[in-house]
Amino acid sequence: MNTIETIQSRRSVKHFDPDHRISDKERDEILSLAILSPSAFNIQHWRFVVADDAALREQLKAAAHGQEQVSDASMLVILCADLMAWQKQPARYWANAPDEVLSFMLPAIDNFYRDKEQTQRDEAMRSCGIAAQTLMLSAKTFGYDSSPMVGFDFEQVAQLIQLPDDHIITMFVAIGKGIQPASPRAGQLALNEVVIKNRFEP
Ligand SMILES: Cc1cc2nc3c(=O)[nH]c(=O)nc-3n(C[C@H](O)[C@H](O)[C@H](O)COP(=O)(O)O)c2cc1C
Repeated sequence: MNTIETIQSRRSVKHFDPDHRISDKERDEILSLAILSPSAFNIQHWRFVVADDAALREQLKAAAHGQEQVSDASMLVILCADLMAWQKQPARYWANAPDEVLSFMLPAIDNFYRDKEQTQRDEAMRSCGIAAQTLMLSAKTFGYDSSPMVGFDFEQVAQLIQLPDDHIITMFVAIGKGIQPASPRAGQLALNEVVIKNRFEP
């Protein structure tokens, strides 16, 4: 499957084979592709909570209004972000870069994030959004379907996964063997509505 086919065939699938098990190898390959996603300053805010405990899955399903993808998916990722990743040994994000790059990046990162709560959250959301799409496209390449989800009680889920205070939950990504195709595409907006030439009309 080439990239175009992967993008075109990725759909939000709601029904997965509950008996299918993903191997540890495939799971790690999919996650290894997801972490190649871009992030501002290469901070890699994403933290992938892989919920494979069956009892936890049931609790998560209850927190997600009973949505079956949560329990039936072969792999459930609770995509979280570390809001304070910018100040946690940032040199490791540029460990392989030349010294002059590192000495430019460290103060730039600090200046960009320090005392800027909205920026910290915006960047975490941006990073995780991109990582989620990489995760879903990688899953598709391995023959899996997926479902991004925000239809759950964030507070309840935070408690269930013991989310650290300086982290946020961005979304779930459920991955598994689809047993029912997604509904036909609900309605894409026309390109000329969403593409703006140079600037918006006043
Ligand atoms: C961030 C996000 C959260 C979503 N949450 C849910 C959800 O909780 N439950 C659900 O059934 N679908 C959910 N969806 C799926 C959307 O309804 C779906 O992406 C949209 O209708 C377009 O369909 P497609 O993904 O098949 O192209 C979510 C999608 C995104 C991107």
